[in-house]
Amino acid sequence: MKRFEGKVAIVTGAGGGIGSAIARRLSSEGAFVIVTDVNVEAATQVASDIRSEGGNATVISADLSRKDACFSLVEQAFGLHNRVNILVNNAGINRRGNLLSLSDEDWDISFTVNLDSMFHLCRAVLPHMIVAGGGAIVNTASQWGLYPAPNHIAYNTTKAAVAAFTQNLARDYAPDKIRVNAVCPGEIHTPMLEAGVKRSGRTIADLDRLVPFGRIGKPEEVAALVAFLASDEAAFMCGSLVEVTGAQAVA
Ligand SMILES: NC(=O)c1ccc[n+]([C@@H]2O[C@H](COP(=O)([O-])OP(=O)(O)OC[C@H]3O[C@@H](n4cnc5c(N)ncnc54)[C@H](O)[C@@H]3O)[C@@H](O)[C@H]2O)c1
Repeated sequence: MKRFEGKVAIVTGAGGGIGSAIARRLSSEGAFVIVTDVNVEAATQVASDIRSEGGNATVISADLSRKDACFSLVEQAFGLHNRVNILVNNAGINRRGNLLSLSDEDWDISFTVNLDSMFHLCRAVLPHMIVAGGGAIVNTASQWGLYPAPNHIAYNTTKAAVAAFTQNLARDYAPDKIRVNAVCPGEIHTPMLEAGVKRSGRTIADLDRLVPFGRIGKPEEVAALVAFLASDEAAFMCGSLVEVTGAQAVA
């Protein structure tokens, strides 16, 4: 029996590095995956890869910076499957800058995409999970939300808020058997990290040297943790912030 046989999972940011690995992992273990991203082309490619591997995936494009899009995504998922067992809030953006160099717009959009989207999506999905007698929510925070790296005040603050949001939601809805946890990845090799490396003038090899384990992480290594937290094997995990960093404490 696969861990997610018969379960429906929404994965946001599923066109990206970590999100696509999560979508593939959940699908490989039996889930019906809703692959959602603002980048329709990327999401379509991921869903098509999943299907060619024998999995079940549907694309729903959504710009999660819009509240109505968050609610519509959940409604469409229910229209298709009549249930959502797992919500993975993974979509995110990373705007660089310190307090004085960051624009107002970068501060606002960071909160809109990284935090408000999960607020709206959780509000849309939670009533259904409560009626169903339980569910699992996994949020993607970051080690930078726990130990801030320099020059990323907006990103780091949103990720600290994601950690706090996760613990609050877990505390309030544990009696309803909704398990809410967050993963806090370190440096993971994805398009977001590639863009950051380019901006900073560093190389992947430079980042590898910063990690005590000797290399940066792979999206699949985050996906394995997300799958565990979403599964019944993590039945007593609720409100946990789990780091996956190769022992790197601060970037
Ligand atoms: N890569 C890392 O080193 C790292 C480390 C810690 C945390 N994270 C977090 O992991 C998550 C995934 O990041 P990634 O590295 O895979 O980046 P990525 O850029 O490859 O993927 C992010 C995805 O989110 C989507 N997205 C952005 N804005 C959106 C919006 N408004 N609506 C819908 N989708 C939107 C993008 O289109 C993209 O496909 C993010 O929350 C990120 O902050 C990444």
